Amino acid sequence: MLNEILKKCRSYRSFEGGVKIPEDMLLSFIENARIASATMNLQPLKYRIVTDDAEVAALLASTRWAAALDIKLPPEGHEPTAFIVVCHDTEITPAKPIFLKDVGICSEIIMLSAAEAGYGGCMIGSADVEKICSILGLAKNLEPQLVLALGKPDEEVILEDAEGGNVKYYRDRYGVHHAPKRTLDEIVIKQ
Ligand SMILES: Cc1cc2nc3c(=O)[nH]c(=O)nc-3n(C[C@H](O)[C@H](O)[C@H](O)COP(=O)(O)O)c2cc1C
Repeated sequence: MLNEILKKCRSYRSFEGGVKIPEDMLLSFIENARIASATMNLQPLKYRIVTDDAEVAALLASTRWAAALDIKLPPEGHEPTAFIVVCHDTEITPAKPIFLKDVGICSEIIMLSAAEAGYGGCMIGSADVEKICSILGLAKNLEPQLVLALGKPDEEVILEDAEGGNVKYYRDRYGVHHAPKRTLDEIVIKQ
């Protein structure tokens, strides 16, 4: 059921070391994003799959994880084994803010597809774009918009209702990650 997948589709920052996602499965995630609704149906997004160990390690070093927590994530030996870098192709149309909506839609579709297939990961917006372009040798027209880290999660993430509007995510003393969400009552605008 969709709701179950949505609940399972959390941000994971620790993975079973070395567990790879087959290339055709990564492609199937992108296939799901390919058919999404798109602003003016222009579809300027292109996707770079990264599974080469050296490239994965270099990309990891160009991203920042869980800035709100003062622990190193992912932990040593629990790194993601793949990335999908969502890029905007400026040869199709200039990279205007309106297309960031497409980035969000397509990225969430990819993360949901991963969750459905028993994998998971984390969207990483905090990334050194210049470094990423150079590591991957991206053509000038391909501008990275969002980095999707993927692997086989090995941590627990608990969804909970935010209390008193406190939406700060945290790790408890057992190392379990908590993701507080505003309640339905708080987010539905009253007439
Ligand atoms: C567009 C976007 C960018 C994000 N960027 C980062 C990031 O740079 N580093 C990180 O560790 N998490 C990042 N996250 C993950 C959020 O911190 C996470 O979604 C939030 O804590 C809620 O947890 P949940 O995804 O399990 O609901 C990002 C999430 C989104 C949607």
